[in-house]
Amino acid sequence: MNRSFCVAPMMRRTDRHFRYLSGILSKEAILFTEMIHANAINRSNPKKFLDNTGVSNSTVLQIGGSNPEELKKATEISNDFNYSEINLNLGCPSSKVQSGNFGAVLMKDVELVKKCLSEMICVSDKEVSVKIRLGVDDSDIEHYLDFFVDELCKIGIKTFYVHARIALLKGLDPKENRTIPPLNYERVMRLKKDFQDINIIINGGISSFISAKEDFKNLDGIMVGRAVYEFPLRLLEVDKLFYDVNKENKSLLTVIDQMFEYIDNLNSKEKIKARFHMLNLFKGLNNAKKSRFVLVSNQKNEKIRDELKNIILESQNRAA
Ligand SMILES: Cc1cc2nc3c(=O)[nH]c(=O)nc-3n(C[C@H](O)[C@H](O)[C@H](O)COP(=O)(O)O)c2cc1C
Repeated sequence: MNRSFCVAPMMRRTDRHFRYLSGILSKEAILFTEMIHANAINRSNPKKFLDNTGVSNSTVLQIGGSNPEELKKATEISNDFNYSEINLNLGCPSSKVQSGNFGAVLMKDVELVKKCLSEMICVSDKEVSVKIRLGVDDSDIEHYLDFFVDELCKIGIKTFYVHARIALLKGLDPKENRTIPPLNYERVMRLKKDFQDINIIINGGISSFISAKEDFKNLDGIMVGRAVYEFPLRLLEVDKLFYDVNKENKSLLTVIDQMFEYIDNLNSKEKIKARFHMLNLFKGLNNAKKSRFVLVSNQKNEKIRDELKNIILESQNRAA
């Protein structure tokens, strides 16, 4: 799997509908699900959480949890769905996640992490990877990080997505934990130097794709979250820039048509969710505000599509 460009897992963002939209904009980007707790998969109708129908990009399923048996069962169930890799979340700092003893807090307990991953590897048809932080609280990000990665390598983990900050588990909420602890890209570069044979994908604060491609050329890829969700049209740059794949320039009108073809087949609740992810497609148009009203309105799907296309044409005519 070529992980040169990955779209980061984001709760309430990277659901199947946003992944479908991402796939219209880039055929090559590696996509992630939101984090799904192992028990959600194990206890209910798994299709509700794992459905990835229609998404043809390689997709990584991210699971949360810290009970080896539960993670094993969820991994086994996921074998029946079209995912290319299974990822364990070791980076989420939310207090809810901490109280459930999963996410970033697990980085403090390497033995438990190894047990969890070993069970997952045992039953998975696909590669098992991890998403980590540089460390947690006051852990020593020089020695402990190397030790942690080395221990996971010993059980066969070969791919690490690294959010280039520590997580502070007390006093910061998840949003603050994505901005306040400083980014430390150099530490990620050193990790790659120490572990040449594993895949290291860097994440955190990347906004310029062109600079990131150059700056991180010694790594195995970059992972971008907010900059993609906030400006999804930027995915149009990805296939040429990161995969050297030339394709025709897709217009916003075509993107809207393709997305509405997909939305037509969803039930009414899912239609609203899918349209919500389209809000940021209109950013920058001089009548973007109007598109927001249209997208959240409860008119018929075709009517919404036609109004959106008119908004785009109007904006283009005004700019001409
Ligand atoms: C709304 C939101 C939800 C997130 N949910 C998850 C998640 O489910 N799993 C995870 O590993 N990281 C999650 N993250 C963290 C991102 O994957 C990423 O590590 C972080 O946003 C830094 O990358 P960026 O600066 O490119 O956004 C989330 C981030 C945001 C903004």
